[in-house]
Amino acid sequence: MNHASEAALTDRVLAQYRNTPDPRLRQILSSLITHLHGFARETGLTFAEWQQGIAFLTRVGQMCTGDRQEFILLSDVLGLSMLVDTIDHRNADGASESTILGPFFVEDAPDLPIDAAMDAGQSGVPLRVTIDVKGGEGQPLPDAEVIVWHSDNDGLYDIQHEAGSGYFLRGRFRTDAQGCLRFWTITPPPYPIPDDGPVGDLLGLAGRHPWRPAHVHFLIAAEQHRTLVTHLFIGGGDYLDSDVVFGVKQGLVVDLERHAAGRAPDGRDCPQGWNCLSYNFCLAPSA
Ligand code: BEZ
Ligand code: FE
Repeated sequence: MNHASEAALTDRVLAQYRNTPDPRLRQILSSLITHLHGFARETGLTFAEWQQGIAFLTRVGQMCTGDRQEFILLSDVLGLSMLVDTIDHRNADGASESTILGPFFVEDAPDLPIDAAMDAGQSGVPLRVTIDVKGGEGQPLPDAEVIVWHSDNDGLYDIQHEAGSGYFLRGRFRTDAQGCLRFWTITPPPYPIPDDGPVGDLLGLAGRHPWRPAHVHFLIAAEQHRTLVTHLFIGGGDYLDSDVVFGVKQGLVVDLERHAAGRAPDGRDCPQGWNCLSYNFCLAPSA
């Protein structure tokens, strides 16, 4: 073993990147090379293992399409996406906690009025969502844009269904003069991330399950405030301690208020019973 020449090789590579003009790129490349070489040295990476790794990453790339981003999924299951999100919110100034965006956000969710039902006849236990959106001083934020999306009762998002099935279980709302928003939907279940590709194979090799705990996604944007991308997780459900993409933060887990079969206060008939999800979101002022 010649540790001296291994270290000398790393030094020679670093030297070749030392004149990268952009200072941030120079810092990132230097750290990347240092850690990548350190990883290979520490594990004693063999040529055959390097080839396996390259073949795996090639499959990840080949799995990517306009609708499927297997590299982000890989970053998600390795915890890198959550780490970057956490680093990006080091100075969150008392804002509500963020979590990852995920692959099922779309830009053009349908506009819906307050009190609308976004379930479009989907089966599931009705869920009444009530949220407040406040700024850093606790002031209500009227006219904030709130984009909401979640899976159906089978754990699939609308865009995972065949083309032409349209959008459902998603909507774009605006808060009222008091910074409040209410809407109806259905109570989502836990679901597995797409695991029919190389990332799913990796999870299998690692003995990990592909499940996410039940959640509703929110993207909240208000003038002069930092946009919040987050979820609310349904308290007491499965996988809260083992989310495949490490997205759970304790402050985002909310217990539902569960109601027996009957009429909700707004007159909606709920023969299966209904649930209430309430939360106060706080946005940080933009820099
Ligand atoms: C999601 O919650 O929609 C999601 C996040 C990361 C990977 C797959 C799905
Ligand atoms: Fe999701």
